[in-house]
Amino acid sequence: MVGALNPEPGEIKASDRPGTALGGENREMAGETILEVRNLTKRFGALTAVDHVSIPFPKGKITLIIGPNGSGKTTLLNCIAGLYQPDEGQVIYKGEDITGYPSHEIARKGLVRTFQIPLPLSKLTVLENLLVGYQHNPGERLFRSLFARSWLRQEETAVEKAFHILTLLGLDHMWDRLAEELSGGQLKLLELGKALMTDAETILADEPVGSVNPVLAHELFEHMVNLTQQLGITFIVIEHRLQIAVEYVDHVYAMMEGQIISEGTPKEVLNDPKVIEGYLR
Ligand SMILES: Nc1ncnc2c1ncn2[C@@H]1O[C@H](COP(=O)(O)OP(=O)(O)O)[C@@H](O)[C@H]1O
Ligand SMILES: [Mg+2]
Repeated sequence: MVGALNPEPGEIKASDRPGTALGGENREMAGETILEVRNLTKRFGALTAVDHVSIPFPKGKITLIIGPNGSGKTTLLNCIAGLYQPDEGQVIYKGEDITGYPSHEIARKGLVRTFQIPLPLSKLTVLENLLVGYQHNPGERLFRSLFARSWLRQEETAVEKAFHILTLLGLDHMWDRLAEELSGGQLKLLELGKALMTDAETILADEPVGSVNPVLAHELFEHMVNLTQQLGITFIVIEHRLQIAVEYVDHVYAMMEGQIISEGTPKEVLNDPKVIEGYLR
């Protein structure tokens, strides 16, 4: 599988990636839709939790979804990730209709939900935590062990990849520390690292900075921006602490009772009377 972290040599320069090294309107023009929901609807009995929502998510950008409690944000993410079956509408990923696919299949395509319940293996080191996520195919491992030399090469590749990820996340100096020694913010970064280790290209994050302090929350968003620029990773983020998120995200959608009531730049949405009235008052 060719993932964002397995580039051809020289491919990784930010300036080569559409929309990352450019500013202002050019960024928008260079955008390419990687994921799209069309008319997505999810009902629970008489309640329509997600009501005909259509959003194109641009590749290599951070899209923020805001809205009061119960407005359907998590349900929308669950429908995209394959945890819920939508009643109507479609989820298109890289041009393929993945509506109703099981979540593990969607994850294999590089569309991954993370920051659920961070459960690192606390007695393993940071590096080992990344490698555990990588070695997920015992059958293949057994086969490879018959050809020990090539297997060793694979291990080397995995370690190199893990260090590359740790460096991007600013965790490389912690590589041999036990996961249980990490701070709350560092644990979030480790979760992100584990997703990247599985070649995640699009990351769905439901209130990723919910429980960490504002300084670490800013750091986490800075790392997300960095990953969009360095690797072209796409983020779809739900966050209720808008003051923190708006500095970093490219585009905002505001939900209310299952519908999109406003969209635009962070500034546009935060100044939209509908949003102020319904949510920010
Ligand atoms: N599994 C479920 N069964 C029944 N109702 C649900 C379920 N999940 C969510 N809901 C309802 O759907 C609405 C939207 O919920 P949710 O997507 O969690 O909102 P948000 O994440 O914006 O707070 C709420 O009224 C919630 O009670
Ligand atoms: Mg929610």
